[in-house]
Amino acid sequence: MKIAILPGDGIGTEIVAEAVKVLQVLDLSFEMETAPVGGAAYEAAGHPLPEATLRLAMDSDAVLFGAVGDWKYDKLERALRPEQAILGLRKHMGLFANFRPAICYEQLTHASSLKPELVAGLDILIIRELTGDIYFGQPRGRRTAVDGHFPGAEEAFDTMRYSRPEIERIAHVAFQAARKRGKKVTSVDKANVLETFQFWKDVVTEVHKEYPDVELEHMYVDNAAMQLVKAPKKFDVLFTGNMFGDILSDEAAMLTGSIGMLPSASLNAKGQGLYEPSHGSAPDIAGQGVANPLATILSAAMMLRFSLNQPEAADRIESAVKAVLSAGLRTADIWSEGTIKVGTREMGDAVVAAITGKTITKS
Ligand code: IPM
Ligand code: MG
Repeated sequence: MKIAILPGDGIGTEIVAEAVKVLQVLDLSFEMETAPVGGAAYEAAGHPLPEATLRLAMDSDAVLFGAVGDWKYDKLERALRPEQAILGLRKHMGLFANFRPAICYEQLTHASSLKPELVAGLDILIIRELTGDIYFGQPRGRRTAVDGHFPGAEEAFDTMRYSRPEIERIAHVAFQAARKRGKKVTSVDKANVLETFQFWKDVVTEVHKEYPDVELEHMYVDNAAMQLVKAPKKFDVLFTGNMFGDILSDEAAMLTGSIGMLPSASLNAKGQGLYEPSHGSAPDIAGQGVANPLATILSAAMMLRFSLNQPEAADRIESAVKAVLSAGLRTADIWSEGTIKVGTREMGDAVVAAITGKTITKS
């Protein structure tokens, strides 16, 4: 078993270091190899996703990814920006199925900006299609408009598109995931306006015939954004395309108290996966040792479960995270009156201690 470790930029290096520490105390035999990605790779090798990094990722069973991006690269041409690394990995590895669980831990009910009764016990699984839609659709670019409201003017355009097989395979993923939990899928679209998402809705409805035991509901994306803050617990599996999934997963993250708690898995047809926190590189707090490493640690647990066939080790990590939260330890993003503020490294140490059976003291 081989894991590619790609820490990336900003807080990426700090949080990935904690997850690696946690993986190391599990007494499992896997090989880990680190490579630069994102802005760090641009600095080291002139490209955000160097050939060697891509090869390492493709040759591994799983990739543990930190985060990429920094404002200082915003002026680079698009192909060299850090974000291209994660988009390139998704594309080249064919990581079409993105799982973003949004779980509100009992201990963090009060960290959410919503009323506790709205989020207590929240457990949503967002399944986002990750290699299609307007993110990857061609053609795209800038040109002189030949029609539209201002013919002759400079314009930019992207292409939203989905093929039948792309929708079918992710729909199967969503229905199968729902079978293992609340047996309800909410497919989020914009079929009232967009041809692409009328097609999405039609294909999802067809695939659903193979899953009569799973309830399917269709919801427009604007309504879904509203329902997420109105009655989030009504969702079980929230299933959608690439762009709507990007937006709704950040919204769902806030229901749980902090985006610093949310892991994610991105899988391809071969079961290879890339595991990363749902949050970004947070350059504003990078290097200060205050970032929350729990989303990355929980991503490592998802990796053990989905790609490395070690469900018990995954359980151990998840229980340890609950234990440190119960002991009152909080990084700044989830801190509240009456809890103990800790830094990135202390949080990682506490998870390690909980796994190895040492007791966590409250001060
Ligand atoms: C995410 C991020 C990425 C996305 C960016 C960094 C390209 O926001 O994983 O949600 O838009 O998919
Ligand atoms: Mg996003």
